[in-house]
Amino acid sequence: MTARVAPHFAAFARTASPRAPLYARLGAGLAVWPGLEDLYADAPGTARVPVNLFAAVHYLLLADRDAPLARFYPNLAGDTPATGDPVPAFLEYCNEHSAEIRALVATRLPQTNETGRSALLVAGFDRLPAGPKAHLDVGASAGLSLMLDRFAYDDGNRVLGDSALLLECSVLPPGRPLADRLPEVTSRLGLDRRPLDLTDPDDTRWLEACVWPDQADRFHRLERAVELFLADPVPVRQGDAVDDLADAVASLGPGEPVVTTSWALSYLDPVRQHAFVEELDRLGGTRDLAWVWAESPELVPALPVDATREGDDLTVLGVSTWSDGVRSDRTLARCHPHGYWLHWLD
Ligand SMILES: C[S@@+](CC[C@H](N)C(=O)[O-])C[C@H]1O[C@@H](n2cnc3c(N)ncnc32)[C@H](O)[C@@H]1O
Repeated sequence: MTARVAPHFAAFARTASPRAPLYARLGAGLAVWPGLEDLYADAPGTARVPVNLFAAVHYLLLADRDAPLARFYPNLAGDTPATGDPVPAFLEYCNEHSAEIRALVATRLPQTNETGRSALLVAGFDRLPAGPKAHLDVGASAGLSLMLDRFAYDDGNRVLGDSALLLECSVLPPGRPLADRLPEVTSRLGLDRRPLDLTDPDDTRWLEACVWPDQADRFHRLERAVELFLADPVPVRQGDAVDDLADAVASLGPGEPVVTTSWALSYLDPVRQHAFVEELDRLGGTRDLAWVWAESPELVPALPVDATREGDDLTVLGVSTWSDGVRSDRTLARCHPHGYWLHWLD
């Protein structure tokens, strides 16, 4: 028998409220709603998570912004989102659109691409020798991190770059910059098991739908990043982080190869995480290479850093380099998982 999803909604409601008050309230209401399991009737195991239903409804609302439910969504309602109980409007919307929601939940999986992490990767690039770089982002999703040199960054002291999208990342200790310069990227490529294609409006809508509506700033900066992407798209190819890494590195254009991963390795099991690092080691034995990573040591034991136990959403930034076959690892900073702050460790 398929496991019920209602307990996951109850758990979500308990844990998500500080970050997602709307979804927490909806989660509590959905956990006791008799219609819930029907919406997941066709969904495979990996899709049986609360965020998939939330994304499905959000996806429909993005094309239906006059629906009464949209007034409760901070990213859609403008300055004055409705403050009453959102549950009746949500359940009514689910009843009215049950066939579409059921189909979306059965065929989609949550997918994110967090623009704010570009700030962390820029800080990592800055620790590499200056010069043209060939950037390969592994677990690239839609490829937004490949545009890190096209965004601007405000580290609390100064702004680096000039762009329609300004990302704020406050840096500790105060006075230390996020980076001295933007990287000089001369070629770029993304690799992802399940890439999203931002030139397809449906993929873009799904990516936007997966952002939690309470986090309106994330939603709006994603919209701006997509606009920048569409002005000059970057390629993301389908492939596996381990099996297709060597081919992807080999097909990079001019520049010193820099592989990046941000919140990607935690989606591999520990054996594949180690296989990824071993593959980098193998490649690093044949050519100079760098790896900039922003990952959770708790979820990625293969990282070249001692696992800390300071919190579930701890993200650590590090850089590994291979020069003449010699590897060197540096742990640089603790960070917010979405790049809102960075605390230098070195
Ligand atoms: C949480 S997203 C992070 C995306 C992006 N790096 C960011 O920071 O926003 C994780 C990404 O890793 C990809 N992924 C998971 N396993 C993978 C694998 N074995 N090979 C390639 N990509 C993988 C997923 O498809 C997804 O796009």
